Amino acid sequence: MAQKFVIGNWKMYTTAAEARHLSQAIAAGIGTDDSVTVAVCPPFPYLSLVGEILKGSRIALGAQNLYPAKEGAFTGEVSPTMLLDLGCQYVILGHSERRHKLGESDAFINQKVRVALSAGLDAIFCIGETLEQRQANQTKTVLDRQLFQGLDGLSAATLTHLSIAYEPVWAIGSSGHHATPQQAQETHAVIRHCFGQMFGERSAQTLAIHYGGSVNPKNADTFLKQTGVNGVLIGGDSLNAEQFLAIVQAGISQTQSQVEAA
Ligand code: PGA
Repeated sequence: MAQKFVIGNWKMYTTAAEARHLSQAIAAGIGTDDSVTVAVCPPFPYLSLVGEILKGSRIALGAQNLYPAKEGAFTGEVSPTMLLDLGCQYVILGHSERRHKLGESDAFINQKVRVALSAGLDAIFCIGETLEQRQANQTKTVLDRQLFQGLDGLSAATLTHLSIAYEPVWAIGSSGHHATPQQAQETHAVIRHCFGQMFGERSAQTLAIHYGGSVNPKNADTFLKQTGVNGVLIGGDSLNAEQFLAIVQAGISQTQSQVEAA
């Protein structure tokens, strides 16, 4: 798969004014090369604002979460229908901050993935191990569990709308730890193998697996050039238009060199 993805996860950052400036700057600087798929995922309150600014640009809009029901008495929650209504194409699900800080279980995330896909959203399903789990050689066990439980019961027809983000919890944000590109490549192979066991070799080969965790303009191309790394999910550096656009540029260069090498 030559097409690369660069996805910005703004988390719970920005004011309305900052969201406006950031999305305007990204839209102004994105250029015309569409060989990389680009999406930004602002906080819920700014989806509409950012969506208006991005309209007509080649940058897709995504959300950071959803509640797995079409509508109902779920105070404070946001449905897939609402996200589609606001122009979202993507939704991030199972992010480690939601798993670990908000206690989301594999079963609950599974409901979200199923509902998102059947509503027509593209789900970016996040998985990853903690530092303790990696040090205890449990990485494969943890990822297999997150995959088997989080993706349980998905129909083959919806798989083209699913991508996976491998985000080692220990490498996210200012943890002080960084995964090496080799660790990312090795772990992506483990994930692809497990996915193949679940959904068949063919689906595994076309599955996009992104890497996330302290990706920045300096290291983005080293991740993106690894076999089996199809994109990057950016937290901190997606809040700065210049840094984010530099990562998009790294994706464009990698796509070009892989196409030339093919
Ligand atoms: P980071 O976050 O780029 O700040 O490490 C990535 C993420 O949590 O999606």
